[in-house]
Amino acid sequence: MRNKFIPISIILIVLFGLAVAGYVSPEKKEKIPVRVLFKNSGGKVIFNHIRHHRDYEIPCEKCHHERKTSDDEPLPCGSCHPESFDKDYVREHIRSFPDTSYCVQCHHAELGKLNFDHAAHEEYADEDCQACHHGNDIEKEPQKCGNCHTNSGTSEIPSVRDAAHDRCIDCHDEMFEAGLKGCTPCHKMQNMKDYSGDFTACGQCHQENDKDLVLNRTNAFHDQCMDCHKKLQRGPYKESDCSKCHLK
Ligand code: HEC
Ligand code: HEC
Ligand code: HEC
Ligand code: HEC
Ligand code: HEC
Ligand code: HEC
Ligand code: HEC
Ligand code: HEC
Ligand code: HEC
Ligand code: HEC
Repeated sequence: MRNKFIPISIILIVLFGLAVAGYVSPEKKEKIPVRVLFKNSGGKVIFNHIRHHRDYEIPCEKCHHERKTSDDEPLPCGSCHPESFDKDYVREHIRSFPDTSYCVQCHHAELGKLNFDHAAHEEYADEDCQACHHGNDIEKEPQKCGNCHTNSGTSEIPSVRDAAHDRCIDCHDEMFEAGLKGCTPCHKMQNMKDYSGDFTACGQCHQENDKDLVLNRTNAFHDQCMDCHKKLQRGPYKESDCSKCHLK
């Protein structure tokens, strides 16, 4: 008779074990700070992180816009929006990212093959090689511009970019007037999806307002915090609201 109870006991023990295991090992929870303290010259800001997410029901991706999957650990904003894009940043930033897929968020374009029909241009220039090449005081024989003109140039010898463009512009001013939209007749662009080469400084292509291409740290915070508050008409965003975030 007693044997009857053995299978039932085993089932009960197993069920109990499962219940305990489920209780002890919680479902995978995201690591999220409760509050974030910013110390800055405007007076420190205490940001109630958990309240924004849980009570105001704002999804992570709304603020951590660099996240690709919900398993990604969000990066500090300063990895991408530093105080300034100076030499230190250029040196350090390369190590701020978990993998290289982040790079192309900013390094979004690279030049590909030069699209230039040399033979046709000899004709367009009426066989006058010096429409583009130097006379033999500089170039003994016509050759690639990059043999003497470097990427950054010097005070005497302009960069390859400026040297070549200077010649092409004689007949193609309309392409250069089109600014960044005028590059593609001459430069095929790389497909950045599976790009794996070196990165070109932004300023090689963007010659003006280089500094404003990515928001700096303060503007990144001000814009993100204030834009949302303003859109929802909740939370501080007015000119007179500084002290609602910045405590003395
Ligand atoms: C309302 C905007 C907002 C929401 C929503 C939000 N966060 Fe944040 N989170 C921030 C800000 C701002 C910081 C501070 C980042 C810094 O100091 O660079 C931060 C910091 C963090 C950090 C620390 C990162 C570090 O190393 O500095 C983690 C981790 C994090 N958040 C995870 C999450 C997760 C996970 C969610 C969703 C469950 C979430 N956050 C939702 C704005 C937000
Ligand atoms: C991996 C790099 C990266 C991280 C980390 C990052 N950003 Fe950005 N952020 C960018 C890039 C790149 C742009 C420009 C995107 C564009 O122009 O579409 C941008 C644009 C913005 C903008 C402009 C408006 C918008 O949403 O497009 C704001 C505001 C901003 N970021 C705030 C933040 C804040 C605050 C954090 C931290 C919570 C943060 N960013 C973290 C790369 C990053
Ligand atoms: C948030 C934007 C951003 C992200 C993300 C980013 N970079 Fe940059 N990177 C810059 C800026 C801005 C510069 C300065 C360019 C300039 O001076 O014109 C730069 C400069 C560089 C330079 C120097 C280029 C030169 O010739 O001066 C290299 C190399 C570079 N980045 C590599 C990387 C790599 C590798 C990654 C990914 C691991 C990466 N970057 C991610 C913005 C970014
Ligand atoms: C419209 C401008 C232009 C004219 C006219 C021109 N060239 Fe060129 N040539 C170039 C450019 C630009 C390059 C570099 C192309 C490159 O880097 O792929 C070049 C490169 C060359 C090269 C090196 C090719 C190589 O692959 O190493 C030779 C040789 C050359 N040109 C000869 C001539 C001769 C000879 C004439 C006159 C009959 C002439 N070019 C007329 C623009 C021109
Ligand atoms: C053998 C070396 C050499 C080669 C190859 C060369 N350059 Fe130059 N280039 C120079 C030197 C040196 C200077 C500066 C001296 C001067 O200003 O005359 C210069 C200056 C220039 C300048 C500014 C002064 C001017 O002449 O208008 C332009 C534009 C230029 N090169 C365009 C080109 C182009 C386009 C090519 C290729 C088709 C090319 N160069 C190939 C050596 C070279
Ligand atoms: C002497 C005048 C002249 C010079 C200098 C010149 N080109 Fe051209 N180019 C022409 C002519 C003419 C055509 C054919 C008609 C047209 O499409 O405008 C042409 C056509 C082109 C095209 C095809 C146009 C299209 O819309 O697809 C490209 C690309 C090009 N040139 C590149 C260059 C480059 C690069 C340089 C400088 C190294 C250069 N050209 C210098 C006269 C010139
Ligand atoms: C009329 C044709 C033409 C147009 C338009 C043009 N380029 Fe170029 N570009 C050239 C030629 C030719 C070279 C020299 C290539 C060589 O000899 O390696 C060059 C070189 C460069 C270089 C340096 C070499 C390199 O591969 O990094 C940069 C950067 C560059 N161009 C950027 C631009 C940008 C950005 C635009 C649009 C604003 C543009 N170019 C428009 C013809 C053109
Ligand atoms: C190889 C050339 C090239 C390089 C390098 C480059 N860009 Fe651009 N960028 C472009 C072109 C071309 C456009 C215009 C795209 C369009 O209008 O379709 C553009 C557009 C932009 C825009 C949109 C606003 C504007 O000015 O038109 C931003 C922001 C930007 N780039 C940021 C960057 C940053 C940051 C870097 C360096 C980390 C960078 N770019 C490097 C070619 C380049
Ligand atoms: C995506 C929207 C959104 C973003 C981004 C956001 N907030 Fe808020 N914030 C809210 C909402 C909604 C409230 C609720 C206001 C209420 O209920 O009165 C709020 C309230 C606040 C308040 C007042 C009440 C409280 O909860 O402390 C402060 C201070 C505040 N936010 C600071 C910030 C800071 C600092 C940032 C940037 C780091 C930020 N917020 C980013 C939506 C946002
Ligand atoms: C919604 C909250 C919020 C409001 C409102 C706000 N700020 Fe900020 N402010 C921040 C945050 C977050 C930072 C980023 C702190 C950091 O860089 O660590 C910041 C940064 C700054 C800085 C940068 C200091 C430094 O060290 O570079 C100054 C200055 C500043 N704010 C002044 C102001 C002024 C003036 C106002 C009113 C017109 C204002 N802020 C309104 C949240 C706010």
